[in-house]
Amino acid sequence: MQKDMKVDVLLGLQWGDEGKGKVVDVLTPRYDMVARFQGGPNAGHTLEFDGRKVVLRSIPSGVFQGNVNIIGNGVVLDPVLFAGEAKELINAGTDLSKILKVSKKVHLILPTHRLLDAAGEKAKGKDKIGTTGKGIGPTYTDKTSRNGIRVGDVLEADFAERFKKATDRHLEQLARLDSTPDPENLKNLIDTWTEAVNFLRDNFDLIDSEHYINKELRQGKSMLCEGAQGTMLDVDFGSYPFVTSSNTITAGACSGLGIAPNKIGDVYGIFKAYCTRVGSGPFPTELFDETGAEIRRIGHEFGAVTGRERRCGWIDLVALRYAIMINGVTKLIMMKSDVLDGFKTIKACTAYKVDGVETRDFPYSIDDASRVIPVYKEIAGWNTDLTKVSSEAEFPQEFKDYIKFLEEELEVPIAIVSVGPDRTQTIER
Ligand code: GDP
Ligand code: IMO
Ligand code: MG
Repeated sequence: MQKDMKVDVLLGLQWGDEGKGKVVDVLTPRYDMVARFQGGPNAGHTLEFDGRKVVLRSIPSGVFQGNVNIIGNGVVLDPVLFAGEAKELINAGTDLSKILKVSKKVHLILPTHRLLDAAGEKAKGKDKIGTTGKGIGPTYTDKTSRNGIRVGDVLEADFAERFKKATDRHLEQLARLDSTPDPENLKNLIDTWTEAVNFLRDNFDLIDSEHYINKELRQGKSMLCEGAQGTMLDVDFGSYPFVTSSNTITAGACSGLGIAPNKIGDVYGIFKAYCTRVGSGPFPTELFDETGAEIRRIGHEFGAVTGRERRCGWIDLVALRYAIMINGVTKLIMMKSDVLDGFKTIKACTAYKVDGVETRDFPYSIDDASRVIPVYKEIAGWNTDLTKVSSEAEFPQEFKDYIKFLEEELEVPIAIVSVGPDRTQTIER
């Protein structure tokens, strides 16, 4: 890291769930601050350490090692889910009020945003996105259409009025979608939400995070930005419309925290040794056979929060090269290598055949599976239990060959290899 570049970014290069939470936790001691910059409780970031397993949704993954953690302006926050998550951590002994700060420019997810998410999905029928149902799309829609309510608004005298106005507008939208909520249910949702907003207001520093962060950086402090979702779910560059509603890429860290692009140092791009996706949308290397089921079983590929089955397939180097380009990745991190331990051979997609023409560049659309055919290279497996390996020197030759092959294809070094879910099962090269 150069002297005047104190901000590193860690983000997913696939369709999310790459293992971001685990690695942020591992890297946290090297930074003064850890910040989330986009997304919301659609994320589920799993950390395992000291025999403990924690899944974080809105709270950054740097809270267990004493750093300052920031929820940046680009994030959308559900006070109810946040309060639940925060109380659990506080009860387990993390002094969260002391270390966690929330940007006043964070947009609030209202109870009716969640209802609109569900109603929107229902209206789409078989074309549904398969969202996490957390109100992410409707909240970002309100943000960009200039109707949103922000965390800073809870400190204003007319907050209740603003909330009512927004809720009424949402209820009109719900009525048009034939999804008017039961009044009793709605009242309960609003009461719980209001209580949670008070908890947030009374227990946490609500700050102008762009000022705070830039002052700290000027004083020589460092920051790690924690991405949520993945590049293939980015609203601009992902498999639109089967994406999330935020910019999950490096540029999102700048807009989601108020840091200038020239402050960015290293960009850690994280990927699984294979590939997964939850929800609808195209996935060229998806496996529908026994091999896919085996990856799911061994890799426990079920949603960290929803429990939804994750779709599994081989690693897609066309998509990865695209993600590396968009993000300016300087270091790669390969996760869940151990999941492939028992496979005799594994496959990697090195190119697509699009309408019969081979290409290594990611095309405009991958929607039509009959027109986008992956070209695979078959690679010998390593047949070794990697979960017990603690240094690069112990890597079997076949695994070293796989890493070398990926580095040649992707043209970026793999700096970290993860061989199990625990904090300690992490090998730096
Ligand atoms: P995130 O959303 O990117 O933080 O990832 P998730 O937490 O949703 O999913 C990653 C899952 O893989 C979690 O259950 C992790 O505990 C687990 N995991 C992370 N790294 C490894 C690894 O190297 N090997 C194995 N077997 N599991 C891992
Ligand atoms: P982390 O941070 C995997 C997917 C949903 C759906 C699409 C849109 O844990 O990697 P949304 O609720 O955002 O409107 O859903 O995006 N999705 C994720 N998939 N990991 C995530 O987060 C995801 N967050 C959203 O499944 O396909
Ligand atoms: Mg996840």
